[in-house]
Amino acid sequence: MPYEFLRAQERKMIFKAAPLVCGVAVVALLTLTPASSQNGSKKATVPEQQFPEAPAAFDNKSNGTVDDATHAADQGKFDEIENVGDGLGPLYNAQSCRECHQNPTSGAGSQVSELRVGHLGPNRRFENPNIPIARGAEIIMGRTLVNDRAICPSAAFPDTEIQQRVPDSETVRTTRISVNALGDGFVEAVADQTLVDLAREQCRNSHRRVCGLVVYVPIVEAPGRAGVGRFGWKDQHASLLSFSGDAYLNEMGITNVLFPDEVTKLCNTVNEPNDKPGSDGLSDVDHFARFIRASKAPPRDRTLANTPAAMRGSELFDKIGCAVCHVRSLTTAPAGTKINGDQFTIPAALGSKTFHPFSDFLLHDVGTGDGIVIPTVEHYGRVTRRMPREATLENFQRTENRLRTAPLWGVRFHTRLMHDGVTVTLRDAILRHAGESSQATRDFRRLGPKDQDAVLEFLRSL
Ligand code: HEC
Ligand code: HEC
Repeated sequence: MPYEFLRAQERKMIFKAAPLVCGVAVVALLTLTPASSQNGSKKATVPEQQFPEAPAAFDNKSNGTVDDATHAADQGKFDEIENVGDGLGPLYNAQSCRECHQNPTSGAGSQVSELRVGHLGPNRRFENPNIPIARGAEIIMGRTLVNDRAICPSAAFPDTEIQQRVPDSETVRTTRISVNALGDGFVEAVADQTLVDLAREQCRNSHRRVCGLVVYVPIVEAPGRAGVGRFGWKDQHASLLSFSGDAYLNEMGITNVLFPDEVTKLCNTVNEPNDKPGSDGLSDVDHFARFIRASKAPPRDRTLANTPAAMRGSELFDKIGCAVCHVRSLTTAPAGTKINGDQFTIPAALGSKTFHPFSDFLLHDVGTGDGIVIPTVEHYGRVTRRMPREATLENFQRTENRLRTAPLWGVRFHTRLMHDGVTVTLRDAILRHAGESSQATRDFRRLGPKDQDAVLEFLRSL
């Protein structure tokens, strides 16, 4: 999704560190082990309090945040097909959230990819693209996303040509595959500090080989406030409500309270915002966010998870250092904690839960960087006193060749892998990792064929 339209500011900080993070599977807490990635995982040394497991299932039922009937109704909004009369477009990618978030059920991911481009300006800095439409009469600027569809020409506007196409001048190009959002309520409820600490420990424990980057991004519903980004391939959002508003505008062309301005006025006939609050005071974007917050985590394949090969693969996954970034277990902040610039209070169903995303939600350079920078400073406006000092363009520049550690929960449903969806086998995905992951990739290559297969079997069980 498009996520660069943010108006407030952010900040981000950089912590380099790379550690060995070993989640203890059972009822685990995120624990840091001092083991080196070569020698296998030693037992976690941090004593843990045990937190209940987040519910995991593809059953379309609520995780307890709302009742099942409310959850089903929220899903109905997420699944709903929008038409021109509802405000679809003028530029858009698809007619419903579910079109891209559907496999194996609403809220998950899919094979659908989108296009992002830009170019290098003076000092070889990344700049957002200029995309002419209407035979050059208008230039779409300020976002890297290029929409694949348009609502006109049409009967009402037979001569208005607004299809976006990438000009030759936009030489930095990538596709981005649709990601899973099931279970993301738990991800949102992880305290900023947990991710900041994780980055620091990771870097220290790996002797600065693996150092996840923390980016602070604007909370759109709390102007002037920022949080640690964790959603999208570039960690471009921290809040599911912000993401929903961004997606509604940029994927579907539906303006909403958080993103009230159309990308183009050409062919636009429905008043802004297209998404207005209903009689209960909730807009579609509120329903989308509540739907995702109430979704259960993607469950393991219970049959494969128990095969000897997958269990062996699970151990090797830790041993060769995959779990340093693909962190097994995280724990959410306690119920009652206010997050997202105080706009959301963690409910009991999401508070103090352990879940297994197999990600640290930090940005890493694993040699696959697509050159696209997230939110540039003009989208953030001026840096306010509430923003960390790190909210500088300089820091955003560092997102250029980094990507979020792909969460591996539900990876067995990903037919196209990595941010660009160009890799189609799990083995190739591993072998494509370089940069900060060079040692883990090397250690994978050094495994015998049986052990390599065990790692792949483990991945197929996730
Ligand atoms: C045309 C396909 C498409 C449509 C339609 C779409 N999305 Fe997405 N979604 C994506 C892609 C692609 C990403 C990853 C984007 C990126 O980081 O560049 C994504 C990411 C997300 C994420 C972040 C999940 C995570 O863990 O990182 C959320 C939340 C989300 N979408 C919600 C929605 C909602 C709500 C709607 C409907 C308003 C929607 N999406 C419509 C393709 C789509
Ligand atoms: C330094 C951090 C890091 C380490 C170590 C690491 N990964 Fe990754 N992994 C990433 C990042 C970042 C991505 C996303 C890269 C991209 O999209 O271009 C990724 C993507 C993946 C994917 C693709 C998932 C998808 O849905 O597309 C798989 C599979 C994967 N990693 C498995 C592994 C395995 C197995 C190991 C150990 C041999 C490993 N990774 C080690 C950071 C890491």
